[in-house]
Amino acid sequence: MTAPGPPIGILAELTHRCPLQCPYCSNPVELLKANRELSTETWIDILNQAADLGVLQVHLSGGEPTLRQDLEQLVSALSSRSVYTNLITAGINLSKARIQALKDAGLDHVQLSIQGATPEVTELIGKHKKGFAQKMQTAEHVRACGLPLTVNAPIHRHNIHQVADFIELALALDADRLEIANVQYYGWAYLNRAALLPALEDVERQVEIVEKARDRLKGILNFDFVTPDYYADYPKPCMGGWAKDAFVIVPDGTVLPCHAAQTISGLSFENAAETPLTEIWETSPTFEKYRGFDWMSETCKSCPRKELDHGGCRCQAFAVTGDAAETDPACILSPHHDKLRNVAVTASAEAPDDFSYRRL
Ligand code: SF4
Ligand code: FES
Repeated sequence: MTAPGPPIGILAELTHRCPLQCPYCSNPVELLKANRELSTETWIDILNQAADLGVLQVHLSGGEPTLRQDLEQLVSALSSRSVYTNLITAGINLSKARIQALKDAGLDHVQLSIQGATPEVTELIGKHKKGFAQKMQTAEHVRACGLPLTVNAPIHRHNIHQVADFIELALALDADRLEIANVQYYGWAYLNRAALLPALEDVERQVEIVEKARDRLKGILNFDFVTPDYYADYPKPCMGGWAKDAFVIVPDGTVLPCHAAQTISGLSFENAAETPLTEIWETSPTFEKYRGFDWMSETCKSCPRKELDHGGCRCQAFAVTGDAAETDPACILSPHHDKLRNVAVTASAEAPDDFSYRRL
């Protein structure tokens, strides 16, 4: 076993507390209560270990990370080690003074999630009255404080018709980047899959709108386009490959190769409050399990695309086929590929709209 190179990034989920209840939340269905969260000292110790390990960027996420009153201390600890910090926030109840304090602590970038391009859709998804107005204000504060802004728009059946409006909104908010992120179906989103999956014709229209806007707005607005797996021919390189470039730490210190890894049964996970981060990164059996190419099915092992997509997503393979080592069913070469597309076609035709909202 050769030691892996250093990871590039970490997603630090500081808390599962959140003012919103989005039915596609990437947090696990079993959310951790506040009393399971790590102390400030433990987080700072772990973040210093991450810097020692060579991590270059930390995405501070949740739930809602600004609910941690020690967020400035964590940002400052990372900034003092020259680690790039990105705050991933829902932008609720965030004053200009707090954003300025985070900037003063060394924060480099803000990513603001917006659930709909209108107040109605934002409220339908996030279940927060006045959420849209507060998000608009947060975006204004971020830019007024001189921080770069990415607008993150998670896309599904209830807002896919708003993609053009999201583009106009991102321009109006003076965002540097717009992430059109079609929902990935694990955890809460898997639970709500039938109520969220869009129709193929809407997906195709969306692709056309994004591609045209990308050309038109070159040099003005950058785009990240996370395409929908259920209508794809090939999978995405989820996490850039399992335990290859990045990992996730959840509020109680458990370290995961990806945010949904706990949905794969039979895996065990170490905790960074008890085991040194370098040891976890280099020797964790769970990290080793799907690292590299040896674990792959023959379909992937013999495929030239394996260097590009690393066989796709382990969590999606497990959710759909029951075996995490299977070829991601988003791949046209997977024997389960049709199953994925049929689920999307049926769900979007029947269009149920009763969500299980994310709740503790
Ligand atoms: Fe990727 Fe495997 Fe499909 Fe090849 S067979 S494209 S490596 S998922
Ligand atoms: Fe776990 Fe893709 S979300 S590997």
